Amino acid sequence: MGEVDPAFVQDQQHRPKLSIIQAEGIPQIDLTPILQHELPNPSTIDTLVKEIGSASREWGFFQVINHGVPLSLRQKLEEASRKFFAQSLEDKKKVGRDEINPTGYYDTEHTKNVRDWKEVFDFLSKDPTFVPLTSDEDDDRVIQWSNPSPQYPPQFRDIIEEYIEEMEKLAYKLLELIALSLGVEAKRFEEFFKDQTSFIRFNHYPPCPYPHLALGVGRHKDAGALTILAQDDVGGLEVKRKTDQEWVLVKPTPNAYIINVGDIIQVWSNDAYESVEHRVMVNSEKERFSIPFFFFPAHDTEVKPLEELINEENPSRYKPYNWGKFLVNRKSSNFQKKNVENIQIYHYKI
Ligand code: OGA
Ligand code: NI
Repeated sequence: MGEVDPAFVQDQQHRPKLSIIQAEGIPQIDLTPILQHELPNPSTIDTLVKEIGSASREWGFFQVINHGVPLSLRQKLEEASRKFFAQSLEDKKKVGRDEINPTGYYDTEHTKNVRDWKEVFDFLSKDPTFVPLTSDEDDDRVIQWSNPSPQYPPQFRDIIEEYIEEMEKLAYKLLELIALSLGVEAKRFEEFFKDQTSFIRFNHYPPCPYPHLALGVGRHKDAGALTILAQDDVGGLEVKRKTDQEWVLVKPTPNAYIINVGDIIQVWSNDAYESVEHRVMVNSEKERFSIPFFFFPAHDTEVKPLEELINEENPSRYKPYNWGKFLVNRKSSNFQKKNVENIQIYHYKI
């Protein structure tokens, strides 16, 4: 490969260090207590809630094991993802993203206006998904996004749909534990997800000839409520550790899921939990695959700190914002390079 394409080159201060720190002590949470069919023991649930609370407070992310998602289903999905990306570019573009439906295949995502070294395939949880037509506050028009119909591999769509069901189940359980850990009712957040805008993403990071300059995904925080990420055994995900602001590598754990606290939980918790900054390194030899599920509320959700948590000593730190408008604004800014910073929750800080 000759010239480096400048679209992929990160500013000096954001380039990955190739001397890697392996993360020590990333919280690993065993979900066995909530999987049991008989009535769970209140004291083990209590311990679990405390673990989730401290992981969310101290790290903003954690891994879960014994989560109940069948390994065979995950393996089927991972295999289908490999087959999908192994097709020719022309075939992948048959289910390509366009300006109307931000679903399907594309390879031009930008994070903070630098192009990511990756290709993706996006698929919505709900088909159709209702969203605002524009991010303009005064525009009430709502449109529908819908899913692509990949023809290859056969059954891709069915496998994805089956897997999404499992992701939603797990996401609701995690959200209950998070709610309890904040001292609010377990089902406090459920209503926001009835007409959810969640989606699943298949990431493929091809080998990259200049891993010291480019990133698979540039530094960012996930905007939704929660992310449930399946990564393969190659590794490359880094998170910014809160205690010392160092980028540390999240070592792959077979069959575990990585859970990211997203910006919405940060706002709901009035900053008690903070979403974590993360990024993805690429490497010159190995390709890497990952599959995040982004758990997003309905478009008409007004995101703001929970009333139960705010009072005179702890006043609300955010102005309310409309999730759908935020989402639509983000989607358009990730699709092409823009010269302005994309929308962030701190724009709503009081
Ligand atoms: C993302 C992301 C991490 C990974 O897609 O938002 O952070 O390991 N992915 O692919
Ligand atoms: Ni992310």
